[in-house]
Amino acid sequence: MATLKKLGILLSGRGSNFEAIADSIKAGRLQAEIAIVISNRADAPGLESAKRRGLNAVLIASRGRVREEHDADVIAALHHAQVDLICLAGYMRLLSPHFIQAFPNRIVNIHPSLLPAFPGMDAQKQALEYGVKITGCTVHFVDEHLDNGPIILQKTVPILDGDDVNSLSARILEQEHKAYSEAIGLILSGEVEIVDRRVLRKLSRSEGR
Ligand code: GAR
Repeated sequence: MATLKKLGILLSGRGSNFEAIADSIKAGRLQAEIAIVISNRADAPGLESAKRRGLNAVLIASRGRVREEHDADVIAALHHAQVDLICLAGYMRLLSPHFIQAFPNRIVNIHPSLLPAFPGMDAQKQALEYGVKITGCTVHFVDEHLDNGPIILQKTVPILDGDDVNSLSARILEQEHKAYSEAIGLILSGEVEIVDRRVLRKLSRSEGR
């Protein structure tokens, strides 16, 4: 049997995307194992959840630390756990260039909008205030710019007239929970490649030639 690919999860808060990934693995929908869960905040509910699930859950507190020094500790922990892919799951901290270079095309993030629309904080509020009729979520590779790297997968969510930030966020979150595991599965399958900014299925590219 092939050895399972190892995931490293980075989170800062609630951790529902982490839980959805862990549930997908448990249900056999995603062939992978979670080698380490790292939180930069002691009070992150996601950290407790990871401990309750018996996972290797580690606090590497970031408060008051220089970014590069904190990142160096996180990088060391990820190397030690021998991760194949790093999943940012509500990790509310910018990664230093050194971090990104340490794991080229091996860090992914989920964002609650259809990028490149509404990057940064409060993406759902930004979409409501702008008045778009369709928003959603994006799973993308992480590069040195905020919410910017090649897009692996997106799911759309209509904005309803009666929506507020809470109702819209809840419907986007449902899609996030599906999108993240699907995107991880795609990457770990080795079936996709990055061509310029595009993430393409290797098979369909050769068929299309
Ligand atoms: C999710 O909605 C995720 O897309 C967002 O934070 C939330 C974390 O929820 N991430 C960003 O906005 C990143 N720019 P969770 O802790 O329940 O997974």
